[in-house]
Amino acid sequence: MEGALLRPSFLLLLLLLQPGEYSRAAADESELTGILGGSVTFPLRIPAAQKFIHGAWAVNTSSLATVTAGKPPHVLVFDLSYKGRLRFHDESYSLQITNLRMEDMGSYTVEFSTDKEQFAYREFTLRVSKGQLPPTITCDSVACEEDSCSYTLCCAVRDGRENVTYTWSNAPSSVLSTDSTVHIPQRHQAAHKDVTCTARLPDGNSSRTISPKDFCAEQVPATTIVCDAVTCANGTCNYTLRCVAGERGGRVAYSWTRKASGTVVSTGPILLVSLRPFEALPAVACTARHPASNSSRMVSPKDLCAATPPDQSLASSPSYCLIILLLALGALSAGAIA
Ligand SMILES: *[C@@H]1O[C@H](CO)[C@@H](O)[C@H](O)[C@H]1NC(C)=O
Ligand SMILES: *[C@@H]1O[C@H](CO)[C@@H](O)[C@H](O)[C@H]1NC(C)=O
Ligand SMILES: *[C@@H]1O[C@H](CO)[C@@H](O)[C@H](O)[C@H]1NC(C)=O
Ligand SMILES: *[C@@H]1O[C@H](CO)[C@@H](O)[C@H](O)[C@H]1NC(C)=O
Ligand SMILES: *[C@@H]1O[C@H](CO)[C@@H](O)[C@H](O)[C@H]1NC(C)=O
Ligand SMILES: *[C@@H]1O[C@H](CO)[C@@H](O)[C@H](O)[C@H]1NC(C)=O
Repeated sequence: MEGALLRPSFLLLLLLLQPGEYSRAAADESELTGILGGSVTFPLRIPAAQKFIHGAWAVNTSSLATVTAGKPPHVLVFDLSYKGRLRFHDESYSLQITNLRMEDMGSYTVEFSTDKEQFAYREFTLRVSKGQLPPTITCDSVACEEDSCSYTLCCAVRDGRENVTYTWSNAPSSVLSTDSTVHIPQRHQAAHKDVTCTARLPDGNSSRTISPKDFCAEQVPATTIVCDAVTCANGTCNYTLRCVAGERGGRVAYSWTRKASGTVVSTGPILLVSLRPFEALPAVACTARHPASNSSRMVSPKDLCAATPPDQSLASSPSYCLIILLLALGALSAGAIA
């Protein structure tokens, strides 16, 4: 019995209080525009220190729904034309209306209480437009070798509407993909220019143009590889490579693969390669998996650790590329000062 969870006094207030009784000036007014078939969210903007308790929504002054905090929230929908189309966000308790219809337009109000505030009030005006919002693009993966990268991009119109066809094109008008996903290889000219995703819908087309390089740099934290140490003794050299991924929330999972075979050689940020002098160093790639994207970088440890002296037979001498680099930089700046 969800209704039983609402305190009687609160229900009474729902019935007694009409939005018109509040001073309009005090109300937090907001105008929102949704797209037909799309969705819209009315933000409650509760201060972080407060906890939502109850809320009562009305549209054009008639009851729409009530929501009571919980996991999941307890929801009662009074206006049946919204059945199955209302969602309350976890934590924020903001109301989302999905699959918008033209007749959803109107004035939306909510009265709610939090643990610190007895009566809060918000008012929104919703318009529904027949147009199309531009599609959203996500950068799924970036794989770089030196300064050159390949990109995988994904295009979507909001709310996964049906009967959408996607086209990725490269200025002026060469089609790269007729799928929602496009892979742009490293050496493709599109990797350095703008690409456009066009979504064709029965009721209109919409498109968005981005530069993969700039766009992915913003969305996907870059991955770099550093040569931590090279230790040589008794004719064997050990290379310690470390993969460094920029963090942007969420866990990062690392894996190292051999370029030629694609074999996974390590799962973790560190890769140890033990080699005899006559053995060639394999090209390896480190992939950092973020919750929403992958970023990988390929290097040849030989180039990366090139600053390291070759086999020093019996003398076990750890040498650090980074330190050498810093020393070199230090020498340069010292020279500049002198
Ligand atoms: C709210 O009122 C407006 C105009 O009075 C109407 O066009 C709209 O359909 C109403 N919305 C709802 C959800 O009843
Ligand atoms: C998608 O297109 C097919 C064929 O054109 C049509 O029968 C179907 O109703 C469409 N679906 C939607 C959701 O518009
Ligand atoms: C969408 O674009 C295609 C191809 O450019 C065109 O044939 C079609 O008429 C457009 N549809 C709308 C609704 O504008
Ligand atoms: C290289 O690594 C192996 C295995 O971890 C170790 O047994 C060996 O002593 C190391 N050699 C050097 C020169 O550090
Ligand atoms: C190198 O070989 C010598 C003699 O064979 C041995 O004593 C020494 O421990 C070895 N060093 C390493 C790092 O394996
Ligand atoms: C990341 O890479 C893994 C393994 O290659 C793949 O399964 C996954 O779909 C990729 N994730 C994204 C967001 O591209």
